[in-house]
Amino acid sequence: ETIIIELDENNIDYDKLEIACKTLRDGELVAFPTETVYGLGGDALNETAAKRIYAAKGRPSDNPLIVHVAEISDVSKVAREIPDMATKLMEKYWPGPLTLVFKKKDIVPNGTTGGLDTVGVRMPSNKIARSLIKQSGVLIAAPSANISGRPSPTKGEHVIYDMEGRIALIIDGGDVGIGLESTIVDVTGEMPVILRPGFITKDMIKETCGSVSVDPAILEKPDKDLIPKAPGMKYKHYAPKADFILYSGESDRVISAIVKESKESILQGKMVAIIATDEDKDIYKNKLRNEEYSKRFYILSIGEREDEKTIAHNLFAVLRKCDELGVDVILGETYSDEGLGMAIMNRLVKACGYSICEV
Ligand code: TXA
Ligand code: MG
Repeated sequence: ETIIIELDENNIDYDKLEIACKTLRDGELVAFPTETVYGLGGDALNETAAKRIYAAKGRPSDNPLIVHVAEISDVSKVAREIPDMATKLMEKYWPGPLTLVFKKKDIVPNGTTGGLDTVGVRMPSNKIARSLIKQSGVLIAAPSANISGRPSPTKGEHVIYDMEGRIALIIDGGDVGIGLESTIVDVTGEMPVILRPGFITKDMIKETCGSVSVDPAILEKPDKDLIPKAPGMKYKHYAPKADFILYSGESDRVISAIVKESKESILQGKMVAIIATDEDKDIYKNKLRNEEYSKRFYILSIGEREDEKTIAHNLFAVLRKCDELGVDVILGETYSDEGLGMAIMNRLVKACGYSICEV
């Protein structure tokens, strides 16, 4: 059985937290909230714990785990070299939604890094997460707490749905703040390279380090010439169960194309979900008002188009909602890929398996 404990980030019950700390010290798994998404934690320096993480998620074992630390000074326990650009980034953005990839020390088992010679490290800002690391005295390896391939969990109930019965303990700390996973930056080379976009944007890293590049495989469909440097980015990911198609182009044309596809799918007997914005959700509703179509579709708003923080926060929850509603087809719009939009679009194109319809 999985123990579930509720904690309030602003008023942590440290005696309750101790139950989770002990579980980690025993090499068992604890799911916990962070400011990005929920993590599935185990002792990063214990190979058995790492194996348990892969088993609980059903995750391919070549996909490395991020090590979560409580202090900047913990980094030297696992990293062989700490380049200047890393120091600058840590001072500016830690604790926070930024993972840095360092050359690893031997103390980090290959089971944690998927056999790589590097290790991803992050210091989360969520107080439950940091207290868990500090109080347990364990450096915590933690991927997102979803079954491999499914949308990352942003609410306690998502974790319970995916992980109950598979791990020792779940800390339910309510809704996370950001809703998308951390930005991953490789600092082992000449300049910082973004391997996964997130809340800390390209411009922010450039401003801190003077230069930055982006792994070209981030928004494109990976193939043999374009293999993402973060192993996890090559899998179909963040994906709901239904067929998911994105529409890209001028707004009126996108709306028309989504309405047309909705009608066709409904007439084939399918249930449809449209992921809309606050601005256009009523347009869809009006266009599908007709008897034939009513009760065969759902319209889910992801937020206002210009409010990227809200879109990021809602994205995975909306995809999970589509699964819960049991729809067959999901039709969605695309967004700007500037700033935080790069992370939003990266998750969306992966969630739809790169089925993007240009209209
Ligand atoms: O926000 C986050 O980063 C969350 C929370 C729980 O902290 N964690 C998370 O972990 O998203 P996960 O396992 O779902 O994604 C980790 C990603 C994968 O794409 C993995 O391939 C990449 O990080 N990664 C980890 N270590 C790496 C390394 N040494 N080199 C390159 N990529 C690495
Ligand atoms: Mg993940």
